[in-house]
Amino acid sequence: MCHRIAIHFFLPSALASDRPARVPNVYGIQHVPCIQGTRKKSLEAIRKWAEDKSGEKPIFLLLDVAGSGKSTVAKHMVNEWTRENRLMARYFFSRDTVTTMNTSSFCVTIANALGERDRRFQTLIDVFKGRHDFGLLSFEELFQGLIAKPLEELGVDAMLIIDALDECDNTDGSRNELLGTLRTQHSSATRLRVLATGRPELDIKQWARGSGVEFVNFFQLEGSDGDIEVYIKHRLKSLPDIQDRLYQIIQEADGVFIWARIACDLILETIDVDGLLDELSKEVSLDFLYKVALGHSIPRDERSRQAFTVVLQMILASRDPLSIVELERLSPKRGIVAQVVNRLGAVLLYKDSNDPIRLLHATFREFLINRSRAGVYFIEPGHGHQTLALGCLRIIRRHFNQDEGTLLRLDAVSQGEEISLSIRCLLTVHPGSIYIHLTVGDITMQLRTEGSRWKGKSLGLHAMSY
Ligand SMILES: *[C@@H]1O[C@H](CO)[C@@H](O)[C@H](O)[C@H]1NC(C)=O
Ligand SMILES: *[C@@H]1O[C@H](CO)[C@@H](O)[C@H](O)[C@H]1NC(C)=O
Repeated sequence: MCHRIAIHFFLPSALASDRPARVPNVYGIQHVPCIQGTRKKSLEAIRKWAEDKSGEKPIFLLLDVAGSGKSTVAKHMVNEWTRENRLMARYFFSRDTVTTMNTSSFCVTIANALGERDRRFQTLIDVFKGRHDFGLLSFEELFQGLIAKPLEELGVDAMLIIDALDECDNTDGSRNELLGTLRTQHSSATRLRVLATGRPELDIKQWARGSGVEFVNFFQLEGSDGDIEVYIKHRLKSLPDIQDRLYQIIQEADGVFIWARIACDLILETIDVDGLLDELSKEVSLDFLYKVALGHSIPRDERSRQAFTVVLQMILASRDPLSIVELERLSPKRGIVAQVVNRLGAVLLYKDSNDPIRLLHATFREFLINRSRAGVYFIEPGHGHQTLALGCLRIIRRHFNQDEGTLLRLDAVSQGEEISLSIRCLLTVHPGSIYIHLTVGDITMQLRTEGSRWKGKSLGLHAMSY
């Protein structure tokens, strides 16, 4: 007898231990509020809109380029409205993780947040969730039943902050569903006010125009780029001569906050500030800045470059961010991960070696995985999937050899925390032996029991020697 079960691939508990809870989530814990004195007029405009009782503009839509600081503003308003005890919910989309880029938990998350603040609301939600056909309802029906109707019934107003509409995945049309639902909200008398942000992508602008939702950008709101100056002065307090020179360069940079942030980081790190400023003034684009940042961080020798490539491949391939400690366990080479990640401090975000590493900004990923933009720094995430998969296999093998693996043990392991790699794994159970077939891209690996020991065998060696 042989039965085959397709299972998701799980993180061996040995690797999952002491994982902190700082992975990006839909509450936007990964973002920080505005620096004092920046984006003042934008924040004012949002406050004014929120106070407007006429209900003529249920949606405030802020569309601006990557890196302009939209999430920072969204996070600022979350903190402010929380302090003011407003009835509020939020959803921060992010391509960093599968959960934060899809809408499957959207309505429930928002309803729960509102329910936390108001017991009457919770009661109404619970009744709705008790429907027998709950699992069959469409996004719009969930939105109506869990959020819009209860607010109406109770006669209370609420705020909803949706950050990064553009990072909501649309491969299965869920972004369209979300936008369609917001359109219905916009055109009906509603108790919900929505503050939404995103990049000015074509479908979002078309949706806004078609729905009669006005949108604004930071330049319209602020009327100037003065904010960047405030930011630079704040960051480069210790280098007053440099502030003005950098500000002059940055004026060409379309008020992109992320540019200023990376440039300040590099300036504070470098020994040769003049040389760096000369280099930065050559071309003011984010792509160019990423190249400068990588050029300054990566030693010139071939081995170091390979180490950088391997580590960045793994970082880009993991579906949820992994920490230095986790990556170190999965890395084909000992001791390279911490070194590489530390050197890339200007473009990666993490607090310590147990903190999941994230890219400073979505544009950094877009740059790295585009060969024509990244040139010599091009990263192929497919290779990262292979590296991670092989790393997992090494761990599983060691784990089972130590633990005298049985199917029961395997179940216990697989109920541990989910590993976030796109790996398909097939478990085959024969009497007396168990096989795991693992397929990642063009690699197939096979693990089998031999007595009570686990032996591993790679069926796709060519792919290991890329
Ligand atoms: C959305 O995220 C959930 C986990 O929150 C996951 O189970 C589901 O498969 C995801 N849906 C898509 C379409 O990726
Ligand atoms: C790579 O970047 C170029 C220039 O920005 C762009 O035209 C192209 O569509 C990008 N390629 C991919 C695969 O995204």
